[in-house]
Amino acid sequence: MKLLALSTLAIQGAVAFPSLMGKVDEAFQPDKRAAYPAGCSVSKLCNTRMDISDSEIGYNAKAKTPAQVASAARNNCGAQNPTGCTSFNAKAQYVSTSGEHAYADPAPDEIRGPCPGLNAAANHAYLPRSGIASLPQTVDGMNAAFGMFPDLSGFLAAYAIVFNGDLLTQTWSIGGPPPSTTIGSGLLGKPQGISWSHNKYEGDSSIGRCDAYINGGDAHSLSVERFKYAYVVGMDNDRYTLDKFAREFTKNSFRSIRQNPNYFAPLFSTTLVSPAAYNFVVNLMSNRTAAEPNGYLDGEIFKTFFGVSGTYPNFKWLPGKERIPENWYRRPSENGYNAVGGVFGDLAAQFLAYPVSFRFGGNANGVDTYTGIDIADFTNGAMHLDDLSKPENLACLAYQSVQQAVPDFATGGLLQAATKVLNPALAKAFGGLACPRITKFNNNNLNGYPGHSYSPTGPATTC
Ligand SMILES: *[C@@H]1O[C@H](CO)[C@@H](O)[C@H](O)[C@H]1NC(C)=O
Repeated sequence: MKLLALSTLAIQGAVAFPSLMGKVDEAFQPDKRAAYPAGCSVSKLCNTRMDISDSEIGYNAKAKTPAQVASAARNNCGAQNPTGCTSFNAKAQYVSTSGEHAYADPAPDEIRGPCPGLNAAANHAYLPRSGIASLPQTVDGMNAAFGMFPDLSGFLAAYAIVFNGDLLTQTWSIGGPPPSTTIGSGLLGKPQGISWSHNKYEGDSSIGRCDAYINGGDAHSLSVERFKYAYVVGMDNDRYTLDKFAREFTKNSFRSIRQNPNYFAPLFSTTLVSPAAYNFVVNLMSNRTAAEPNGYLDGEIFKTFFGVSGTYPNFKWLPGKERIPENWYRRPSENGYNAVGGVFGDLAAQFLAYPVSFRFGGNANGVDTYTGIDIADFTNGAMHLDDLSKPENLACLAYQSVQQAVPDFATGGLLQAATKVLNPALAKAFGGLACPRITKFNNNNLNGYPGHSYSPTGPATTC
C-alpha cells in the first residue's frame, strides 16, 4: 500500500520536473563558478533549486497529527530527555576556543570532510588537527566539545575504524584517505575515510552536502542552495528545532529521489545515519544557557558551525573553515547525547511524525522510481515496520545489521581484528537491549538498485 502511494508520487514528480531530466549530464559537471580547493566542488544539479511542499511530505501546520504534535514538543536536548536537560553549569559547559583550542584553518596536509561538527572539532583541536583520530581521541573530543556520551561516540568511532579506517593503527579519517605516507590496512585496501564511505557510513539526503552521485562522488562539499533550504526553516523566529529539521530531511529525501538516479538508502548509512545527522545539529550545536538549559540554535550559530558566511540569501561556503562559536556552551554531561534514547529516540519520534521520512530502499530504475524494501521481508519476519516506532527496536535493527555486516567485509585475521574493535563498542551502546533475534538479513532485494553498488573513491581533501 505504502509503496503504491509512493510510486504515484514519484510519477507526478517526473512530470513536474521535465527540464531537469534531459540535462542531467551537463548538470552533473562541477560548477565552474565556485572556486573551491582541489577535490571539492558542487555540481550545477546539486545547486539547482527544487521546492518540495509541506503537503507532499504529509504535513499541514493547521492540522497536525498527534505524532507531529509530539515531535514539535521535543526540546533541543532531544527525545532522550522529555523533561529537558536538567541543569546548567557555565563552567563545565563552556567550550574553550582559545589557547590550545584556538581556531586554525586546516593546513594542506590536514584532512576535513563531510561532517561540520567533526571539522569544527578538528579546527579547534578537540580532535587531532590532522583529521585522523583514534577511538579514545574521538570519545574524549566529542565529549569535551559537544557533550556526546561515550557509548555513542565510541560506537561511531569503532564503526568508522572498521568500515572506512585503518585497523592496524586503529584510526579513522574525518575526511578522505590519509596521506600515502601513513600505513594503511583498511579492509578494502587503502582506508578511504568518511568522505568516501558512500553507503557504508555516509549517505544521501544530507542537510548541507550533495548526494554523492549527482556531484561526481563528492559528498563532502557543501551546496549553498541546500544550506539555504535548511536555513529558511528557522528564519521565522531565528530558532532551529528537531521538528523543523525532521521535515527538512523528509524534503531532502524527495529531492534525492527526483534528482539522483542512483539514490539508494541502505539501512545503516542512509535510513538511519542520514536523518540522525540532522538531529546531531540540534542536539549538539545548540547553545545552552541558565535561562534555556535545553539550549537554542539560531542562524548565526548554525552558520558558524557549518563554515558559512554572508547574509541570507547571499551565503558563501568557506571550505574547511567550520568553527565552534565564541562564548558557546555545550549540552551538560549528565544529559550526554547517547545511542538508544538519544539517536534512536529522536529517529523514532521523527518516523512516527513523518512516516514518509523512513526511507529504506531507493530508485530502482532512474529518477522518480523509489521503491521501498519491506522490513518484514528484510528481517525474515523478525520485525515489522510498526515495531520501529520504539527506539529500542530501531536500535536493535541497527545493532544487528552492523554485526552481520562485519563478516561480509572481513575474513580470517582481519575479522578478528575488526570484531575486537567493534564488539566492545557495540556492547557499550546496545548491550542493555533485549533484541528480537534476527538470524539472517535478507539482502536479496538490494541488488535491484543501481545505487547499491555505487562506491566512489577519491583524494584527501581539506574541505
Ligand atoms: C550563548 O548563550 C550565552 C548566555 O545567554 C550568551 O552570552 C552567548 O553569547 C551565547 N553564545 C552564542 C554563540 O550565541
